[in-house]
Amino acid sequence: MDKLIVRGGRKLKGTVRVDGSKNAALPILFASILADKGTSVIRDVPELRDIRTTVDLLEILGAKVKWDKSANTISINAENLTSHEAPYELVSQMRASFMVLGPLLARLGKAKVSLPGGCSLGQRPVDLHIKGFRMLGASIDENAGYIIAECDRLSGGTFCFDRPSHTGTENIMMGAVTATGTTTIINAALDPEVVDLAEFLNNMGAAISGAGTPTMIIKGVKELRAVDHTVMPDRLVAGTYLCACATAGGSITLDNCRPQDLGMVIQKLQESGASTEMKNGGMSITCDKRMGPFDITTFPYPGFPTDLQPNFTAVAAVADGVSRIRETVFEDRFAAAMELKRMGANVTISSNEATIEGVERLQGTSVMASDIRAGAGLVTAALAADNETQIRRIYHVDTGYHKIEEKLSSLGADIQRVPD
Ligand code: UD1
Repeated sequence: MDKLIVRGGRKLKGTVRVDGSKNAALPILFASILADKGTSVIRDVPELRDIRTTVDLLEILGAKVKWDKSANTISINAENLTSHEAPYELVSQMRASFMVLGPLLARLGKAKVSLPGGCSLGQRPVDLHIKGFRMLGASIDENAGYIIAECDRLSGGTFCFDRPSHTGTENIMMGAVTATGTTTIINAALDPEVVDLAEFLNNMGAAISGAGTPTMIIKGVKELRAVDHTVMPDRLVAGTYLCACATAGGSITLDNCRPQDLGMVIQKLQESGASTEMKNGGMSITCDKRMGPFDITTFPYPGFPTDLQPNFTAVAAVADGVSRIRETVFEDRFAAAMELKRMGANVTISSNEATIEGVERLQGTSVMASDIRAGAGLVTAALAADNETQIRRIYHVDTGYHKIEEKLSSLGADIQRVPD
């Protein structure tokens, strides 16, 4: 197990390239098994633990997978699938593995997928995924911690999400692309990764319209073909660098970044004093004075992303004034705030709301990452802390950020990975 050692107080300067999006790559890799001929090539796939888990799962199903890490490219040939089972060992490592259910049902008419089990972000159920597949005509049973689903061929219909679910929308979409008839998804998630997946599927021959709007219409097609696709840039990694600049101060440029995916995030940073400039294929941010306070409420896209809430808690911890952060997407998502208190942050949490009175400097100490985004929030905070901060359980951060220490070092931060 590794830990990060950060000595805060250095301003950031320079240019960093944002990797391809993990949350877009995962469903796209699962969707690639929908092609029963040819080899799909997925480009700009980040080298992350969650991608390793996905590749392992695809191989267990019988797909031939080649991961060229030096080129960030994964090729998948799924002509001969030999299994329909996603075992607990993999789904428990990565909840998003549950998204293999839709492609397996569409391709093989059967799937046995472990339930994801406990998660550090509250209960996080998959009931909406299951309701959606029942609507598409699958019979679904639960046995010994597994979902066992079967169908002759899925059939189209109308499914209305009680609330927009990001991976739920993607899962149902992947199941519906080869269903008989037309599927309408109402109250669909609007996230850019959903749109990227729809573009991938449409290139494969699917007929999806309305991706990125609350109503998606999917006309079932008979078969899909293998294609070549480049994954969109990671908006959450980009948002993390923007917040790192806000806590550390300085001026940085992000390449391979789509500011249009970060509307609410950029607006909040501007409101609290950052100046930003949009560029072709990227953006710059300058934070030349202490940031001001802000209020945010997390909300499904295009609302403020819950995944960047811990980073903004770190920004608020050193801002000049009192900020309020309401979390409405996940319960139990203030783990980073509890650790920030150990660094001297003045945070009060009541129910789903954190009130943060900024302090001039945080104090470095030993803290623990409890999940990927909480860990990124702690790194963001450590850049503005006196002395040394040690961030343990950094493997959580590694599920979503490729060598975060190298990227931040290249911007001038004093950060090192060492064995714990
Ligand atoms: C995805 C993202 C994750 C992000 C989250 C919210 C991936 C791999 N993960 O997770 O990074 O934090 O969106 O933007 O893309 N819910 C139910 N029943 C369900 C499904 C969801 O009640 O069947 C609830 C959840 O508990 C949560 C809310 O709906 O409160 C939104 O969750 P959802 O959008 O499904 O999150 P994920 O897709 O799991």
